[in-house]
Amino acid sequence: MYADVTSGLGKVPAPVSHDEFRKRQADFCDSLGGKSIAIITNNPTSIRSRDTHYPYRFNSYLHYLTNWDEEKGVAVFYRRGNEWTCRLYVKPRDIAKEIWSGRVLGPEGALEGWPVDETDSRLNLETSMLELMDGADIVYHVTGLDEDVDKIVADFNGDLSDPRVYLDDMRVIKSDSEIELMRYSGELAALTHIEAMRRCKPGMGEWHLQAIIEGCFLYHQSEWAYTSIVGCGDNATILHYTDNKSIMNDGELVLIDAGCEISGYASDITRTFPVNGKFTEAQRAIYELVLKAQLAGIAACQSGSPWSDMHHATSRVLAQGLLDLGILTGTIDDALGDDWNGPYRQFFMHGTGHFLGLDVHDVGGGRQGDGVPERILEPGMVVTVEPGLYFGAWREDIDIDSKWKGIGVRIEDDILITESGPIVLTEKCPKNIQEIESLIGTI
Ligand code: GLY
Ligand code: MN
Ligand code: MN
Repeated sequence: MYADVTSGLGKVPAPVSHDEFRKRQADFCDSLGGKSIAIITNNPTSIRSRDTHYPYRFNSYLHYLTNWDEEKGVAVFYRRGNEWTCRLYVKPRDIAKEIWSGRVLGPEGALEGWPVDETDSRLNLETSMLELMDGADIVYHVTGLDEDVDKIVADFNGDLSDPRVYLDDMRVIKSDSEIELMRYSGELAALTHIEAMRRCKPGMGEWHLQAIIEGCFLYHQSEWAYTSIVGCGDNATILHYTDNKSIMNDGELVLIDAGCEISGYASDITRTFPVNGKFTEAQRAIYELVLKAQLAGIAACQSGSPWSDMHHATSRVLAQGLLDLGILTGTIDDALGDDWNGPYRQFFMHGTGHFLGLDVHDVGGGRQGDGVPERILEPGMVVTVEPGLYFGAWREDIDIDSKWKGIGVRIEDDILITESGPIVLTEKCPKNIQEIESLIGTI
């Protein structure tokens, strides 16, 4: 089944080259001040039950700079003479441990195949990092990920600084090879959403659609980029619903928000469709309104435009639509309110999108509500556009006609900003009503 679903999928694009990792390291080091060293650690493991762990996911900053994904890895950038050097500390080889937990490369294996200058065993971390810190005025480090490194850095007497300030600016603009990986990630996710539409029938469980989607990711040596949301009826009105345990009933809408990772790069797609293949009049009215808002949001994704333009574009369409449907009353200014926080926010309570990349909610400060300075969109940025409207029947705080109750709609695509306008990386996933209705329940 999975091979059929994705028969149109091209080959996985080439991985990011060693030259590109080296260029990133050079650009990063160029931005560091004074006599400094920078330490980039990996993510901790996370316990699921007693002595078993959640699948490991590397830290995106360490991956971005070194391509090193093994847990406990630490990269240190320091100046030797006038040259910046990247030293990678890794777990040492240990056959007794490897028999249980899998093979590790050790310092020699890491030096052979990774874009770094030097490697060392993590067992030497303390002595050798203390030596490097000795001559430094500034240490760039993010605490909270690697306890051992935090303890070593705690003894440093100079300035502590955050390396993410520089790395976020770099990561927010994607290179050609990153864009190709993201294009593929978007395409795989798009095809799996189509498969979910084709297999959807009343009486199935939300988890069945989740299984189809995530099985397809796995089949392609990919995995989910975030916990998949499959919510029907009122469940679709809960923004972070991940239970996925309800039966999908005739007459309900189902909202699927699911994306995958390819070489660490996320896609993030939401589609909403009727479980039985036919929108009711009320569902159709809300769906068409959200789609109109989403298209306006995408059109606002122009190089040179402030980040907030897309949110204002979607908000304006949604607020006007809510007035036209009689769900809100008054003028458009009343509905939008001060600071774009008026009554329409009862039904559209999240931002319009976020940056996308190695993290699904990627770095760069482009999430509404983050309280960081607004970005101007530039070619190479990838953002999501995902307006929605939610009318939970369970909501005691809203006063609406019963025909709207239980409707939740979100539509989300991944958009590449270019000089010549927005490119929808997830365009293979249909979203107009006719196309969607013709797919649902056809196998
Ligand atoms: N899937 C998470 C989001 O859309 O932001
Ligand atoms: Mn999103
Ligand atoms: Mn999403």
